[in-house]
Amino acid sequence: MATNPAQPTFKPLVFSGVQPTGNLHLGNYLGAIVKFVELQKSHECIYCVVDLHAITVWQDPAELTRNTREVTAAFLACGIDPKKHIIFNQSQVHEHAELAWVFNCVARMGWLNRMTQFKEKAGKDRENVSVGLFVYPNLMAADILVYRATHVPVGEDQKQHLELSRDIAQKFNNDFSSSIAARGFGEAFFPQPEPLIQGPATRVMSLRDGSKKMSKSDASDYSRINLTDDADAIAQKVRKAKTDPDALPSEEKGLTGRPEAENLVGIYAALDNKTKADVLRQFGGGQFSTFKNALSDLAVAKLGPIGGEMKKLVADTAHIDSILAEGSDRARAIAGETMKTVKDIVGFIRA
Ligand code: TRP
Repeated sequence: MATNPAQPTFKPLVFSGVQPTGNLHLGNYLGAIVKFVELQKSHECIYCVVDLHAITVWQDPAELTRNTREVTAAFLACGIDPKKHIIFNQSQVHEHAELAWVFNCVARMGWLNRMTQFKEKAGKDRENVSVGLFVYPNLMAADILVYRATHVPVGEDQKQHLELSRDIAQKFNNDFSSSIAARGFGEAFFPQPEPLIQGPATRVMSLRDGSKKMSKSDASDYSRINLTDDADAIAQKVRKAKTDPDALPSEEKGLTGRPEAENLVGIYAALDNKTKADVLRQFGGGQFSTFKNALSDLAVAKLGPIGGEMKKLVADTAHIDSILAEGSDRARAIAGETMKTVKDIVGFIRA
């Protein structure tokens, strides 16, 4: 969609969310959290544990609580600063749900019917999935736009949802254009949020099958490295990772058609902040076992301390909960202002 040349400039603000639905793994870390940490240096950032999104599929209540604390602990252990930036859980800021309702009335059925993630998740069981799963992307748009955020670090799989957020922002701006202009916001109240998808490992694949994404729902724990795995578990999973019989190539094009090799090289590169070409210059021509030993050492060195810190943090639930409460207060202050204006724009009476 073309950007509106008359769109006012919005203050740069980063927003992203992570679902508290199970073990956080290397894919979540390299695909998202590493970028969250980096963006703190250049931007104001808001990072949200999206518990409202989680319940679009059934969650055991005690597990949901535990997983919400665990994602929070991961944010902290990876180096997100909850004083300079904001860390909170979505359900404590009711404005998310409130704006999502308005967006339910802006987004069109046809737009949501095109969402590939819904089709994948619902599968043949369309009649039986929750209504929330269908309107999931509208809530995601509300998460971002209730802060009028401009930049959204996400994995490749969320690109389509981000496009939908842009379409919702644009339609809201168009539908209510005179009301928006009358309140002094020019041609656009909401920005067009941009996805930030970069890095050598935006798609971390399963260690057992290079054609499948690394996933918390894979039956085999050997398919993934969890952020809470200890050094022995990490080493064992890397050692057992599927490979092919050939030696590593010296150049990137030699990885074509070798998804498992490409995945492990990508993981090494991402963990060591290098390109795949750098990694192949170092290990190309050598045996896989040598490379795997190096990868195992690197993974233990990078992830071991994070897992240790997470375990310490989750043990102190009062501390984690107080960080979420404080973050939620600060988030609510921003979201509340947006909702007041949205209500005025739409024509709702408020005190
Ligand atoms: N849908 C995202 C995921 O599954 C999580 C999410 C919810 C999100 N709201 C968001 C990500 C807002 C970015 C911005 O990964």
